[in-house]
Amino acid sequence: MNMKKYTVAVVGAIGAVGQEMIRTLEQRNFPVKTLKPLDVPANKGKEILFNNERVKVDVAENGVFEDVDIAFFSAGGDASLELAPIAAKAGAIVVDNSSAWRMDPSVPLVVPEVNPEDVDWNKGIIANPNCSTIQMMVALKPIHNEYNIKRIVVSTYQAVSGSGKPGIDELSQQTKDYVVGKELISKTYPHQIAFNAIPHIDVFMENDYTKEEMKMVFETQKIMDKNIKVSPTAVRIPVFRSHSESINIETEKPFKVEDIIELLNNAPGVKLMDDPETNKYPLATVAEGKDDVYVGRIRRDESIENGLNMWVVADNLRKGAALNTIQIGELLIKRNLV
Ligand SMILES: NC(=O)c1ccc[n+]([C@@H]2O[C@H](COP(=O)([O-])OP(=O)(O)OC[C@H]3O[C@@H](n4cnc5c(N)ncnc54)[C@H](OP(=O)(O)O)[C@@H]3O)[C@@H](O)[C@H]2O)c1
Repeated sequence: MNMKKYTVAVVGAIGAVGQEMIRTLEQRNFPVKTLKPLDVPANKGKEILFNNERVKVDVAENGVFEDVDIAFFSAGGDASLELAPIAAKAGAIVVDNSSAWRMDPSVPLVVPEVNPEDVDWNKGIIANPNCSTIQMMVALKPIHNEYNIKRIVVSTYQAVSGSGKPGIDELSQQTKDYVVGKELISKTYPHQIAFNAIPHIDVFMENDYTKEEMKMVFETQKIMDKNIKVSPTAVRIPVFRSHSESINIETEKPFKVEDIIELLNNAPGVKLMDDPETNKYPLATVAEGKDDVYVGRIRRDESIENGLNMWVVADNLRKGAALNTIQIGELLIKRNLV
């Protein structure tokens, strides 16, 4: 067994995902020799508690990556564009949470349950997919393997923590202000998020889809199969944590619903929660803080020949971000790449 320990940097260590990454490293007993929490200059010197030790935050800049084996990035696209190549050049393997490198053909885009072998061809940077894509891939890959999915229609119901700390703060403040009848101020979102549903995540593209929606199309094709057609609608809702998704698929081969249920029951990273008689189905509140992707409301789409509907929920900060990133780190160790 590989007992080596590693110098691990977390870039964006003060952020929502960065904090969750540090917790995940600790919870999963990642073989950390030295933890280097890195963030913006304003956060230099702040203390992070890691394995009962206080570790001071340093500035993420050229020169700090020289002794780093693995650098987990979650500081936004601009930081990743600038610093990931610097970290990789210094000898670290970067696992990046932003969208900066995801569609670069020289960068693997990895969900460990789906395409673990893709880490092998990394050239120093590996990308972590978008949170909405990750949970959909974990739920659909076992079905795709057996029945060949031709088309996916997906609508998301996404938590505000997907926009980091600013999203969390905006929903809290608006909820408090709403209750006492104060005017609601929107800075992070284009409209009031409290008690609302906003069909607009990230910027609009030329084809009138949002960038978040097109990420689900392109990333699904890169990770699972370039021939799959994806029709997405991404919606922000006033939930703090966990994204929910209504997913409809059309397969090439016919299936029995009970066989799909059996497949998902044995699928890695999936937790089946599907018992309509006892009101059991996945909920954001159930998935919060958990590692699994919860799947339920599985039923045949009776409007087409080989169609299926399901409801898929996962914690966007864990499997959607921090956990998937750390699992990629674990893969690097398992496959002797670091
Ligand atoms: N939240 C999610 O569900 C989710 C899921 C998947 C991927 N991601 C991605 O993960 C990244 C971080 O998201 P988040 O939600 O954690 O955001 P966040 O809460 O805003 O945290 C980002 C942290 O990085 C810091 N930072 C900014 N520029 C930096 C730089 N050049 N060097 C070092 N640190 C820097 C920020 O400092 P300041 O606050 O001072 O700028 C902040 O502390 C984003 O790229 C996001 O798209 C998020």
